[in-house]
Amino acid sequence: MKKLICILTAVFMFLAVVGCGGGEKKAEKKEAAPAAKQTGTETKKAEAAPAPVNGKVLVAYFSWGGTTRKVAQTIQEKTGGDLFEIKTETPYPKEYGPTTEIAKKEKAENARPKLAGPLPDMKKYDVILLGYPIWWYIEPMAVKTFVEEQDLSGKTILPFATSGGSDITGSVADLRKALPNSQIKDGLLANSTGFIDDWLKENGLLK
Ligand SMILES: Cc1cc2nc3c(=O)[nH]c(=O)nc-3n(C[C@H](O)[C@H](O)[C@H](O)COP(=O)(O)O)c2cc1C
Repeated sequence: MKKLICILTAVFMFLAVVGCGGGEKKAEKKEAAPAAKQTGTETKKAEAAPAPVNGKVLVAYFSWGGTTRKVAQTIQEKTGGDLFEIKTETPYPKEYGPTTEIAKKEKAENARPKLAGPLPDMKKYDVILLGYPIWWYIEPMAVKTFVEEQDLSGKTILPFATSGGSDITGSVADLRKALPNSQIKDGLLANSTGFIDDWLKENGLLK
């Protein structure tokens, strides 16, 4: 009888140990799973990086005081694109105050100031880097004239702006509304030039 009890105890203990061991293995497997998932996510992140934008590049910009012009010239050098300055037929005053008043009125009236021509032949370009200062929280109305006056459907547009502190998102939303058949990428607020290279690289435009 004693022998039987000993054998039964031994069998019970053996089963208990094997059973627990299996549980540990399962737990190990469960813990390993997130690591595998993480690797998958990293791979996905790399795959989800924006596809490079190829094609002939135009850097078109409007500038009143010269700040956006400097950024546009830098971007032109870094991309090797063609450079075009958007100018109004009637130039804005040299003084800041009167210019802000005209710009305010143009925005309120949803005006489309006439541009000085000729405009570039858009058929030559697939990608347009579009630069402007922020005027009353959005792009100047002359930029609206520029994008509406020609057929930009199917083109990729990368807005960039300078400002006294306002961000670029309002103008990007505005451009997306005006150009539903173009691909408007997220814009770059270029008040500091430090991010230009990364932005161009992300979009496959850095020479
Ligand atoms: C008419 C006008 C309106 C402006 N409106 C804004 C604005 O709403 N928000 C802002 O941050 N800066 C505003 N600014 C400042 C300009 O965006 C900023 O100085 C810009 O860098 C000027 O670029 P530019 O030298 O190429 O013209 C305004 C400037 C002008 C002349």
